[in-house]
Amino acid sequence: MKPVIALATLFTLASATDWNARRNFHARFAKRQETTTTSSVTSSVSTSTSVSSDVSSTTLPATSGASSVTASGTTTAAASVATTLAGTSIPPLSEITSGAISESTIPLSSTATAGQVPSISGAPALPSYTIVSSEWPTMDQMPSTDSAEVQEWMTELEGFDIPDLSTTDGTCAGSPEAAADAANRGWWTCGGYTRGTDIVACPDKLTWGMSFDDGPGFYTTKLLDYLDERDLKSTFFVVGSRVIQNPEILRAEYLAGHEISLHTWSHPDLTKLTNEQIVAEFGWTRKAIQTVLGVTPVTMRPPYGDIDDRVRAISLAMGMVPIIWTRGKNNEQFDTNDWRVAGGTVTGTESVEAFENILSNATELDTGFIVLQHDLYQQSVDLAVGYTLDLALNFTPSLTLEPIGVCQGWPATDLYLETTTNTTFPYPDSVISTNVSTTASARATAVTADGAAQGSGARANFASLPTLGAMLAGLSVLVGGLLMV
Ligand SMILES: *[C@@H]1O[C@H](CO)[C@@H](O)[C@H](O)[C@H]1NC(C)=O
Ligand SMILES: *[C@@H]1O[C@H](CO)[C@@H](O)[C@H](O)[C@H]1NC(C)=O
Ligand SMILES: *[C@@H]1O[C@H](CO)[C@@H](O)[C@H](O)[C@H]1NC(C)=O
Repeated sequence: MKPVIALATLFTLASATDWNARRNFHARFAKRQETTTTSSVTSSVSTSTSVSSDVSSTTLPATSGASSVTASGTTTAAASVATTLAGTSIPPLSEITSGAISESTIPLSSTATAGQVPSISGAPALPSYTIVSSEWPTMDQMPSTDSAEVQEWMTELEGFDIPDLSTTDGTCAGSPEAAADAANRGWWTCGGYTRGTDIVACPDKLTWGMSFDDGPGFYTTKLLDYLDERDLKSTFFVVGSRVIQNPEILRAEYLAGHEISLHTWSHPDLTKLTNEQIVAEFGWTRKAIQTVLGVTPVTMRPPYGDIDDRVRAISLAMGMVPIIWTRGKNNEQFDTNDWRVAGGTVTGTESVEAFENILSNATELDTGFIVLQHDLYQQSVDLAVGYTLDLALNFTPSLTLEPIGVCQGWPATDLYLETTTNTTFPYPDSVISTNVSTTASARATAVTADGAAQGSGARANFASLPTLGAMLAGLSVLVGGLLMV
């Protein structure tokens, strides 16, 4: 494969004039609009390796991500992934394991073109874009906080009382003081604490707000084809590193009517990070999505659900409402564990059993529900398209499957900064400030958390896994190779 040379590519921002009209509607919005315009409307001559909107073939490797993970040999999980290529039918459940035979990837059924107009009312036409890798942080690594971009995004926190909570190590066992204070901190990881601004379920009983995390990945196309055949729509929580790797898959998701939300640049536990690092993770991911789609999500999901009042306040200040997933009556997470199958700590059969339990427990809730599932690994996509989605579609009592925004009753225009006309969502500065300071004073006077012990073991389960970062690093090797060979 030849390097892709980007020549004198003019970035355009189709909606710049619309944005100008709305300049005064929201202080944060205006600030961001300036940032985006400055960075996007540039004319550049570059000889760097790049992915261009004109060359969609660079975004889909001929071979699968899984086989290249093996080649890179960077994780134990990788070593157990077979390299033989198989077709793209659904494997028997017993074969959906960490040693699964790698499937060839399915090309996108249609390619988006710059200028194409999305169906969402008022949405800007799809921009032309060129991803020049040297202009982005290293994939799957926490971006530097020294850049001019991050310093600019930090100004979005001005005027907000970001709670001064200590960082954690992301686990309850490893951060006992924070775990004991989890109720005061609104720390979801230890005890499942949430705030009124968090979305954790669909309001209507027996409604599943469907979502897939960590893509767009090499197998996402298989999932998109399945959803298309059944006329289903989902929410996708996308990782910035994957967006610049597979931009055309993101465009296909968006044009097909799926909802796009943000899931950080390198998938860290956010309570581990400093304010600047959190801003960098959010800011670069937001910029990646905006560069490729022309729209900016106003929602996000914290990796591992790891959010507390500090992370929450930063997210809200940057204009993004947090969406987590449901916990059942015993505080059990609605997690299919599909993400553990590639790593070998859970089998496909166990993941489907977990999903069946979730559906059964969901019938006991007064509300609908949101489940954690993924589209990054072949195994999790096969579990979804071969097993869990069919189970949900054939479930008794019957379920409604919708993207999360739809199940909330949000019009599609409310999902993106460029299309929304809703002045109270994402929350205006005044509401966030009032709420953050109310919560902060409540925190100062609150009695000790009573639920911390209950949740203290929950996060520890993650420790036995090869980290997602390590596995993604293997994928990056492939991508680097493809782009630069
Ligand atoms: C503000 O905080 C209160 C108390 O946590 C919560 O019930 C309410 O939903 C919050 N509202 C907003 C808009 O953040
Ligand atoms: C479902 O409910 C059962 C019985 O209460 C419980 O053991 C299990 O942990 C629950 N699972 C989830 C995901 O809520
Ligand atoms: C704005 O969004 C919020 C949250 O979804 C909703 O409650 C409110 O009704 C919306 N306002 C308008 C004017 O649509």
